[in-house]
Amino acid sequence: MMLRRWMAAGLVAVATAGVLNAVPAAAERPYDPTAQSLRALGQRHGLYVGTAVDMAALADPAEPRYREIVRDEFSTVTAENVMKWESLEPTRGSYDWSAADELVATARRNGQKVRGHVLVWHSQLPKWLTDGVADGSIDNTELRSILRRHITTVASRYRGKIWQWDVVNEAVSDPWDTPSTLHYKGFWAEHLGPGYVADAFRWARAADPTALLFYNDYNIEAFGSGDPANDKTQFVYDMVKGLLARGVPVDGVGSQGHLGTQYGNYDTLQVADALHRFAGLGLSTAFTEVDVRSRLTDGVQAGDSEEINPRLQASAANFHVLLQACLAEPRCLSFTVWGFTDRHSWVPGTFDDPPQGLATIYDENYQPKRAYQVMKADLIYAGPPYVRMRATPKPRR
Ligand code: XIL
Repeated sequence: MMLRRWMAAGLVAVATAGVLNAVPAAAERPYDPTAQSLRALGQRHGLYVGTAVDMAALADPAEPRYREIVRDEFSTVTAENVMKWESLEPTRGSYDWSAADELVATARRNGQKVRGHVLVWHSQLPKWLTDGVADGSIDNTELRSILRRHITTVASRYRGKIWQWDVVNEAVSDPWDTPSTLHYKGFWAEHLGPGYVADAFRWARAADPTALLFYNDYNIEAFGSGDPANDKTQFVYDMVKGLLARGVPVDGVGSQGHLGTQYGNYDTLQVADALHRFAGLGLSTAFTEVDVRSRLTDGVQAGDSEEINPRLQASAANFHVLLQACLAEPRCLSFTVWGFTDRHSWVPGTFDDPPQGLATIYDENYQPKRAYQVMKADLIYAGPPYVRMRATPKPRR
């Protein structure tokens, strides 16, 4: 097989030797899109391609590739953890900005935009806050003013430096929660009621007039998954529609895009339809945390290619669906992956029973996977009339 291919190549070379000149000089070579970075290719559509950044990996002297890939391949970055409340205010009243400032400074050096993540979320809250609420030393009136102060403090500090803020993250339940009817879930809804969502957007706008303000959630890639009466995407759609009707300054909906190859997932048309419907409300959209994990079966762990190959291909196919759908909607402003290498991915540490992984676009040795090539091809082979330049929305007052 190898021999035959080599012989065939040799024959072609002999047959054309008289016609072909020497290799042309670099300047004369035709433009080769496959040699371009994701960020450069995204720019053709005005689309920002992003990654979550693990600040420990970014600072690690033993990880130069991590820094290079962050710098070269992406045009927007998100702090994977360092802008979360537990990181910013570990002790009540004293903020530690060092790591978050470092992320913003790195982005500036690299000519990248920043997605701020996150102002209000039920998870990764400081212990002093959750303990204070649990033991009754912080009542709900005080809790609301603590939240207001936090949003104001963080959004003011980074005013003018954040492109999109995830103002509220994961406020809505899933069909597997109790009760199974979709509802506002978690710490903030339990203590302040669902009104905290509108409050958070208003407080964020007051502190930062220039950022685009996003609601961000998972399992909202498409409408109509599961029971139509209990559709999370529809719930979020109705929620943001209601907020807009009341004049709440919501600019966009972020779809996290955490998928797994073991699930049914969606096709491009379903995902594009969801993005078009949010756009129909006058909202921007973004994919904010894309990764596509797989079960690490015994065979996968033993290196069995018959088990590994279909998973890598299925993972790539899901990256393709989300990216192609985003390209199809001009109000889909950015496509961010939640870590770009299996070497630094939250998946193995979080989904460990049963073990999962292989969720990103580069392997553990920083080799681009099929998913990376598929993203590149999507960005190359797209253009008018169906893929147009991105819109440039103005922040809502
Ligand atoms: C994850 C981080 O990747 C982990 O390092 C951390 O331990 C837990 O949080 N949805 C979100 C992200 O909005 O903030 C989460 O990030 C992943 C799920």
